[in-house]
Amino acid sequence: MAGLLEGKKGIIFGALDDQSIAWKVALKAKAEGAEFLLTNVPVALRMGKIQDLAEQCNTEVVPADATNLEDLNGLFDKAAERYGKVDFILHSIGMSPNVRKGKAYTDLNYDWMKKSLDISAISFHKVMQVAYQRDMVNPMGSILGLSYIAAQRSFPGYGDMAQAKAMLESIARSFGYYWGAKNGVRVNTISQSPTMTTAGSGVSGFDAFFDFADKLSPLGNADAESCADFCLAMFSDYTRKITMQNLFHDGGFSSVGMTESFIESLSES
Ligand SMILES: NC(=O)c1ccc[n+]([C@@H]2O[C@H](COP(=O)([O-])OP(=O)(O)OC[C@H]3O[C@@H](n4cnc5c(N)ncnc54)[C@H](O)[C@@H]3O)[C@@H](O)[C@H]2O)c1
Repeated sequence: MAGLLEGKKGIIFGALDDQSIAWKVALKAKAEGAEFLLTNVPVALRMGKIQDLAEQCNTEVVPADATNLEDLNGLFDKAAERYGKVDFILHSIGMSPNVRKGKAYTDLNYDWMKKSLDISAISFHKVMQVAYQRDMVNPMGSILGLSYIAAQRSFPGYGDMAQAKAMLESIARSFGYYWGAKNGVRVNTISQSPTMTTAGSGVSGFDAFFDFADKLSPLGNADAESCADFCLAMFSDYTRKITMQNLFHDGGFSSVGMTESFIESLSES
């Protein structure tokens, strides 16, 4: 039987190690018949592990800083050489110097904040703008970014990443219009549960975030494996009419107000 993504070509940003959401997407996409380039910042390549993934996926890693237009053009040159056009792009990128260095939200370093926004949100626009201007995505292609519910609600410790995620989701809506009107390409964000990865565990109090969301969600937290499954579904033709959406993939967390077990635990105390 043909795989879900048989014949599809893509670009996957953000696989760092085997915990990364993008890493799981790559393995599953390969198993479903897709071909793709992997890309990450040069420093991530030097750490070595992504080359192992490339071997498993029978592909290559193209170094590119997603905030740098020259790097992005070089990446799309490679993609054009290898595939012509692509059918899917995964933007699985996030980093905040303020969060990483433990800066309080009430004492942000604004140069670092600009970096957070550039890396975690504006890079999504840059990737799409380069691809759009070069006409690099096939009709009915699918472009995805990964978000978090701190775009809508406040979560202490998530710092300026909350603004970055709000901007990322907004970019998906705005650019999704132009892609849809141009050639039916979809642009969406997936708002994922707290997930045990390098980016996730960099957030202070992450274990508490994780447990709180897990306890509140009727289905429990969505893990990286199930997030990767959802990404594949979004790259497939079965979701061809979904665009400009922020899709919660969180076990129901975003719709819960209170649970019976929380009421019980509060009445006991
Ligand atoms: N882990 C969570 O709890 C969680 C929850 C919701 C959403 N997300 C989002 O999922 C995405 C993937 O994160 P992850 O949890 O797999 O962690 P991760 O640390 O494995 O992935 C983040 C990636 O971003 C890459 N990156 C950083 N700066 C870059 C740049 N300038 N150019 C290109 N790549 C760059 C890193 O090298 C890394 O591969 C991020 O957008 C993250 O915010 C994560």
